Amino acid sequence: MKIGVFDSGYGGLTILRSIRKVLPQYDYIYLGDNARAPYGTHSFEVIYRYTLQAVRFLFDQGCTLVILACNTASAKALRTIQQCDLPAINHQLQISNNQSPRVNVLGVIRPTVEAVPSITQTGHVGILATPATVSSESYVLELAKISDTLKVSQQACPLWVPLIEAGEHESQGADFFVNKYLQSLLEQDPEIDTLVLGCTHYPLLLPKIGQWLKDHSDIRVIAQGSLVADSLADYLKRHPEYQQQLTRNGTCSYLTTENAERFSESASLFLDTPVQAQQICLN
Ligand code: DGL
Repeated sequence: MKIGVFDSGYGGLTILRSIRKVLPQYDYIYLGDNARAPYGTHSFEVIYRYTLQAVRFLFDQGCTLVILACNTASAKALRTIQQCDLPAINHQLQISNNQSPRVNVLGVIRPTVEAVPSITQTGHVGILATPATVSSESYVLELAKISDTLKVSQQACPLWVPLIEAGEHESQGADFFVNKYLQSLLEQDPEIDTLVLGCTHYPLLLPKIGQWLKDHSDIRVIAQGSLVADSLADYLKRHPEYQQQLTRNGTCSYLTTENAERFSESASLFLDTPVQAQQICLN
């Protein structure tokens, strides 16, 4: 069985790359719902419905674990899927296969949040995320659970994902929106010394973010890839019942709900390796 990695589009590739670096032996399926991206401006109900469709699809393709490599889906859909849908899905699998437990879904917010207290010196933390992630307050609530001294400010960046999905993240035009959201966050709290890229697409803007931050050498930027990868490795150690089901041929297949050729081209650039994607339909 395989590990599924799901995102609304290209962003989850930043997580997949880190996971495969740490756990190259397993077989993976990447699914990008590019046809319906961005998720970050949709309502809870829509994000939950789309995410559940993707998760069910990946289980049907033989995944035992699905990583929601998307903060928006993790913020809006993960808990409901874990609490309301997984028990029924696992019950059904148990009836048909006589195995238990068989499938699970993991998110990206918890592993990210756990890294923050050891990184910030001032205790002032900035979250950059999609409008849906910001309005869910997931980062604020999760950080409050592990530390009551942090001051957390959030900035929604509604145009960053569309720029990346359109392949415009390296263009001059992108500078305007990178500057706009970073400036607005630092105006909220000039003492921020730790910036969390709370959207898996955002590492693709790191060259521009780094350029903007060159006058703020005290600010550390947290990208999620290695945090999620280490957390998955730890999870598999603690849960041999999943690890034992995983096949080990080191493969990865790529699925998209949009045009396969376009996805293959962009994903090959992002991952710096040839990608041959296949188009699928979610419903
Ligand atoms: N990569 C997704 C995330 O981490 C982007 C969501 C979107 O499609 O807006 O939030």
